[in-house]
Amino acid sequence: MPFTSPFSRLTLGAGAAVLLIAAAQAEDPAADGGDDRRAGTLEKATFGELPDGRTVDVYRIANANGIEMRVINYGGIIVSLKTPDKHGEFDDIALGFDSLEAYLSDTYRQANPYFGALIGRYGNRIADGRFSLGGETYSLATNDGDNHLHGGQQGLDKVLWQAEPFENDEGAGLVLSYTSEDGEEGYPGRLETQVTYTLTAADELVVDYRATTDKATPVNLTQHSYFNLEGEGSGSILDHYMMINADAFTPVDDTLIPTGEIRPVEGTPFDFTQPTPIGERIEQDNEQLTFGKGYDHNFVLARQDASSGDALLAARVWEPDSGRLLEISTTEPGIQFYSGNFLAGDLTGKQGQAYEHRSGFALETQHYPDSPNQANFPSTILEPGETYRTRTIYRFSAQEEAPGS
Ligand code: BGC
Repeated sequence: MPFTSPFSRLTLGAGAAVLLIAAAQAEDPAADGGDDRRAGTLEKATFGELPDGRTVDVYRIANANGIEMRVINYGGIIVSLKTPDKHGEFDDIALGFDSLEAYLSDTYRQANPYFGALIGRYGNRIADGRFSLGGETYSLATNDGDNHLHGGQQGLDKVLWQAEPFENDEGAGLVLSYTSEDGEEGYPGRLETQVTYTLTAADELVVDYRATTDKATPVNLTQHSYFNLEGEGSGSILDHYMMINADAFTPVDDTLIPTGEIRPVEGTPFDFTQPTPIGERIEQDNEQLTFGKGYDHNFVLARQDASSGDALLAARVWEPDSGRLLEISTTEPGIQFYSGNFLAGDLTGKQGQAYEHRSGFALETQHYPDSPNQANFPSTILEPGETYRTRTIYRFSAQEEAPGS
């Protein structure tokens, strides 16, 4: 069992001070929640222990409608996310595990799917793990053939973050902080990162990313949750209807590095401007689908200007049986749609079900892959004195009918 006593419970009511109730024998209330109808709830328990003895905590955050997420401070991983279907039945729609051991296991590290984790310093790939900046060439840790992927060998998904629970007018959540030292995974600059998860009363998960540096450095933070809107462990996601608000995508080579081209989606299997089942064209004879082994591509969002500060609709996913609808808005210029092509059934999830090929999808809001080497892509360089700020919002609902475009 992941939840061991003692645990502490933080109850957040309207205007109420945070109440801390220590319980000697936990009966694992955090694991089977979803029934909580208070304004906002936070509970903290021990999730496990790292090999070096540090404790990993799990926070349960729930809103008044019963939506509930559990987050651990290792990797900022969302380990579960329960939302209602069209009949009001709650299911966990996020792929992941119940124990820290599973996240630390060799099988998991080899498969490295990054279930639910915060990703950085650079989400996605950097070709050959190299880039030049200010006249210097930097070599990053490589962990995907010759390329650098999702921050390297020990990216932000594999470090212990400091966690501070909070409540505000919007909802309840967690501020996660981590300082990545100068040279970590090869990156220049000491990067102070802060990611805030807020679960709102309006059934949204708002993720705010913030970072500062003392040397110019590339930054591209994202979140790597895999969803199955029918419930994790319930099989393929190929029947989910996907809409991506993108007229173009960035084609890749056979190592998934963008070629630099921005290609219109029109007339290709990458056109998701109208809601389309993920599986409808995934097996088509198409070089890009062959390289990605399915969808594993960055889409150029219709609104590219990330500077206005507004999060605009990027994607909408609907699953017909449950009626669950996930809408993602972001300030970012791109989104990686990954159809779980590397899931191979060798990882067993929370319901004891193997996570088979394409049994979860990820939608990673981001700047484009390999931007530090691609002059025509929006810049990902953060300078000292600047503050990196991006926001992504996940909205959960359910409806009987397929959504419009
Ligand atoms: C990448 C995939 C990779 C997956 C898990 C995605 O963001 O695009 O190629 O397999 O993450 O590492």
